[in-house]
Amino acid sequence: MIQAPVAPEAPARGVAVHARALTHSYGRGRHGVAVLRGVDLDIDAGSHVALQGPSGAGKSTLLILLGGLEAPRSGQLSVGEHDLLGVHGRALAAYRRAVVGFVFQHFGLVEVLSARENVMLAMSLSGVPMAARRQRADQALESVGLSHRATHRPSHLSGGERQRVAIARAIVNEPPLLLADEPTGNLDDEAAVRILDLLDVLREERGCTLVVVTHSALVAARADRRLQLRDGVVAP
Ligand SMILES: Nc1ncnc2c1ncn2[C@@H]1O[C@H](COP(=O)(O)OP(=O)(O)O)[C@@H](O)[C@H]1O
Ligand SMILES: [Mg+2]
Repeated sequence: MIQAPVAPEAPARGVAVHARALTHSYGRGRHGVAVLRGVDLDIDAGSHVALQGPSGAGKSTLLILLGGLEAPRSGQLSVGEHDLLGVHGRALAAYRRAVVGFVFQHFGLVEVLSARENVMLAMSLSGVPMAARRQRADQALESVGLSHRATHRPSHLSGGERQRVAIARAIVNEPPLLLADEPTGNLDDEAAVRILDLLDVLREERGCTLVVVTHSALVAARADRRLQLRDGVVAP
């Protein structure tokens, strides 16, 4: 059962995440590459977890499964009330819209659109009327401290500002689960600290669950818990 998106007035509540013997591979048969080989994972609702591990360990893949960008191959995966095994296509898209906000290392903004339009784009499938979209985009930009940059295109913004636009886009639909894949990987230390402060504030205000993939000890130190992914499993 996919829930309707949370109304903007109601603060989002975080969701718990549980995975058991979760596997994922790319390709099939002889050419298949097993990436996740039996992940067991429990994340409390509203907590902030850092996911670490060597390059190629499967961190991004795990985030992709939590975010409903792909369906896992086998095992169990639940996010809040949503059981994600065997969920595909439109049902998976509905899950993403209702539950997930995603922040990427390379920001993923559309260059020909303004900051406001980039944020509004996240609501294009949400059934929010146009006037309300604009208002909610401006609220989201305000909550990341970028009201004065609403009409700027990404190329006219600093790296830290671009990432704040991307965060505004990720939170505008009030997702109970916020996923960030190396969100400060392209930023200098000062900008990185501001992004981390912002993520902490947003999580507290909104009560969302926050999972951050990172190589940085500085970033990981901010989390309530640190998990290590190695050889396709979460190290005990
Ligand atoms: N779309 C894909 N198709 C095929 N192989 C992939 C794909 N995405 C990732 N991989 C492979 O899966 C492994 C884990 O990748 P990834 O989850 O990105 O690791 P990490 O984020 O920990 O660096 C790597 O060996 C990578 O090459
Ligand atoms: Mg990665």
